Amino acid sequence: MKNYTSINEIENINSWIEEAKEIKENPLKNKDLGKNKTLGLLFFNSSLRTRLSTQKAALNLGMDPIVMNVSGDAWGIEFGDGTVMNGNTAEHIKEAAAVVSQYCDIIAVRAFPSLTDKEKDESEQVLNSFKQFASVPIVNMESATGHPLQGLTDAITISEYSTKKKPKVVLSWAPHVKALPHAVGNSFVQAMQKMDVEFVIANPEGYDLNPEITKDTPIYHNQEEAFKDADFVYTKNWSSYETYGKILEVDENWTITKDKIGNAKFMHCLPVRRNVVVEDAVLDSDNSIVIQQANNRTFAAQLVLKKILEEL
Ligand code: CP
Repeated sequence: MKNYTSINEIENINSWIEEAKEIKENPLKNKDLGKNKTLGLLFFNSSLRTRLSTQKAALNLGMDPIVMNVSGDAWGIEFGDGTVMNGNTAEHIKEAAAVVSQYCDIIAVRAFPSLTDKEKDESEQVLNSFKQFASVPIVNMESATGHPLQGLTDAITISEYSTKKKPKVVLSWAPHVKALPHAVGNSFVQAMQKMDVEFVIANPEGYDLNPEITKDTPIYHNQEEAFKDADFVYTKNWSSYETYGKILEVDENWTITKDKIGNAKFMHCLPVRRNVVVEDAVLDSDNSIVIQQANNRTFAAQLVLKKILEEL
């Protein structure tokens, strides 16, 4: 595999899940595969899980990870072609990506959307510029429209915790105080569409995700109806896609409660705002698998890095 920038890079998700489970059983089996290879992790935005689990994955493969907080610590990067750089940006992506490629064998990038300019966000300018101007493979650590390391993690976790051949999985929107990206929701939808699950989405009117991603996945605007017989409730907030990047008025209370989810397993990518997105009683119950889910971030990242290293 050359790059890992989208869930669409996964041809057979079941075989990926099985390989990730094997890695989890024996994480140091390939500890020499990445020897003398460097992984550069470039963060334009904050992170706890992605930052640490991807480094841990690299270390398990014998790689040397190096990390940079690009926003704040690096020179401001210009992405526009032909721009007269007489403003705040001091370095063009053409030089930045080429230079970092000399220090790293793989570059991983996190760059969130603006949520103000849909067209620009959907162009994935930062991620695609790295793909264009770097001479080494690129891994998406959450871009404007996707979080494929998270989506793969979620698929692994559902496979691990499923007690049925075809479980019912619900992706439910929940409230939040800030306008959030669609990336986690998008990648989760794409991952579930590749799995043998009964998958539905629940969100208020006005919050439907990009129809090019949801395709024919059923969308309920009634949370109770969607949650009926659910085995997994995966919760995430996102801002409106239609009224791009906005927080809309919602009549009903969409916070996840113990009563609402019953015996379903509760999942969330984290970080999560307690008693806004989900009540304490859910997160503190045995039905919550968010910690186990976060653990799988390492094995998802390790699988992706392994597949890239095998083709270097
Ligand atoms: N789920 C996730 O990506 O967490 P971080 O933002 O902390 O990396």
